[in-house]
Amino acid sequence: MTLPAVAKIPYGGDYNPEQWPEEVWKDDYRLFELARIDTVTLGVFVWAQTQPSPDVYDFSTLDRAVERAVAEGRQICLATGTAAHPAWLARVHPDVTRVDFEGRRRRFGQRHNSCPSSPAYRRFSTELARRVAQRYAATPGLVAWHVNNEYGGACYCGLCAANFRVWLRQRYGSLDALNQAWYTTFWSHTFTEWAQIEPPSALTEHWRGPDHTAFQGITLDYLRFMSEAMLTNFVDEKAAIREFSRDVPVTTNFMGMYRPIDYHRWAEHLDFASWDNYPPDDRSAARMAFTHDLIRGLKGGQPFWLMEQTPSYTASRDVNPLKRPGLMRLWSWQAVAHGADAVLFFQMRAGRGACEKYHGAVIGHAGRSDTRVFREVTELGAELDRLGGATLGARTPARVAILFDWDSWWALEISDGPSRLVRYQQVVLAYHRALWDAGVDVDAVPVTADLSGYDVVVAPALHMIKADLAARLEEVAQRGGTVLGTYLSGRVDQNDQVFLADVPGPLAPLMGIRIDEWDARGADVVNPVTLAADGARSLVCAATLLFELVVPAGAEVVGRYQADFYAGTPAVTRHRFGAGEGWYVATGLDQAGVSWVVRRILDRHGLLGPYAHVPDLESAVRVAPDGTRLRFLLNHGEEPVELPASAAGVDLLTGVRVAAGAPLRLDRYGVLVLREES
Ligand code: GLA
Ligand code: ZN
Repeated sequence: MTLPAVAKIPYGGDYNPEQWPEEVWKDDYRLFELARIDTVTLGVFVWAQTQPSPDVYDFSTLDRAVERAVAEGRQICLATGTAAHPAWLARVHPDVTRVDFEGRRRRFGQRHNSCPSSPAYRRFSTELARRVAQRYAATPGLVAWHVNNEYGGACYCGLCAANFRVWLRQRYGSLDALNQAWYTTFWSHTFTEWAQIEPPSALTEHWRGPDHTAFQGITLDYLRFMSEAMLTNFVDEKAAIREFSRDVPVTTNFMGMYRPIDYHRWAEHLDFASWDNYPPDDRSAARMAFTHDLIRGLKGGQPFWLMEQTPSYTASRDVNPLKRPGLMRLWSWQAVAHGADAVLFFQMRAGRGACEKYHGAVIGHAGRSDTRVFREVTELGAELDRLGGATLGARTPARVAILFDWDSWWALEISDGPSRLVRYQQVVLAYHRALWDAGVDVDAVPVTADLSGYDVVVAPALHMIKADLAARLEEVAQRGGTVLGTYLSGRVDQNDQVFLADVPGPLAPLMGIRIDEWDARGADVVNPVTLAADGARSLVCAATLLFELVVPAGAEVVGRYQADFYAGTPAVTRHRFGAGEGWYVATGLDQAGVSWVVRRILDRHGLLGPYAHVPDLESAVRVAPDGTRLRFLLNHGEEPVELPASAAGVDLLTGVRVAAGAPLRLDRYGVLVLREES
């Protein structure tokens, strides 16, 4: 079982009728009809209603909400409702609340805050999921199960400590092995009993917050453990659902690049992936593209659901900008272009109280249908109707992969030295952005992914090298592909212990270089780098933050530092390896520099997109199961653009036929979905 069985892209989102009297529901559906909203996510935060006390279940309100949705012919994504535990549960079983990083036992309040190890939480949440599944499994129009909501955070309680020790025993088998993995001869930390091991927190190994730890080994393992502890909660609920519902796919909504949870380790347990897209600002088109690619990569390229986005503004930030006219549409289509087979909002009707009362909604507080936001939602609904099932199951034909690795992310950012200023996401995003600007389809994949189908593999800040990864990267180059690595790669093994070898460790043979020293400087220190290769126009760009001093060992020099005592030495290298190449960028090049390097590589493989020279113009391709090619063109710029059609085809949003090379016009924030003819 994979994706929900639907005939077109589901459109709608989180709907909380329990917050409203039933007269309002009638109006909701009248408006849903206008906006062609066909799917509602129900029951995300109704635990206190469905189980008002330990022994009482009362599904009457949820029953009515579900019955109404069915009567109105809507599809339902049904939540288990376990993301906000009720007040009575925290009172009867105080261990369901978490202990925070500072060691304080929390009391009842907020949400997304249950201790994943609490037997009471596990028992009650699983039982609730079971009852919800039993009651609603046969509901007509039920297309997906939505377990919990945005799993995250961490707990440092005694139950988690005890489970951590069990997890460690399973992982290491003996204290000897654990002591070695954590390098405990340092600072007299040798453990002689499992009971001595404490969760790494402000009370133990940390100072100045979760990123400053005396022992990376224990902190890394606690991150891994916590991610798995919450996964256990998901798996428990899913198993309970499966007792009564065998064919309806199960998901939980992820948060994109969310550091605390290793989504790659979770992915195999989900039937399909979904995520909530709340970009930090309206200049994040490339970042959103990457995040969609990352989520699509969780299930081997299978389409995912955009489970939430705001139609207008969020409420949780200090400053909550309004999506400009056209942006909600553009970003919805961007999600589809990158593999989303659902477009859902948070939320359908704006709540009138509590902390999300100013969060945008399809239906505002006044319940009007003549607002700009509602109109745009309606227009998008009509477009998605017109698109029908054209994208369902369609895949991205990527020849380029970018590696993303939670372990490397964690290891890099909890490290003392070389620099706290190097942030994993920023390095990854810079390289992805260069690919995105060049209009090339990219898969963002885990380090365990099969790399044999890619021409180019980009591995930014691949700090930790696990298992046979280096050998698999060598294979890519061996058969003619290109591998691009960057500074701070190939440094540590899975225990965060440094390789006793030349940097970049296991990547050194592929890169044909050796690094003996490196220099970290404040963000204001710029070392210019000149880039030149193969008749391409040379470039002087700025490099900052980290400067590795490269000694070529077979590689040719493509870029050189221009300043400091290492002026004239290599900053970017290229190494012929087998039939292919290993490129290494030893410093934090600015975006122009990163793009220059990335375009040289894409060029070598003939992979530059047809509109690589048009700024702010995004191009993405999906190939339907029947082989139909859909090209999405998205104008993120403020100005209209005109460009020649790269192939003949039909614009699926207007039905207009275009000839190859014919001029296409995209307005500001314009969208084109072209069904290409081969
Ligand atoms: C998250 C949650 C929702 C809601 C929105 C508001 O994504 O899943 O319940 O709080 O944020 O932006
Ligand atoms: Zn706990």
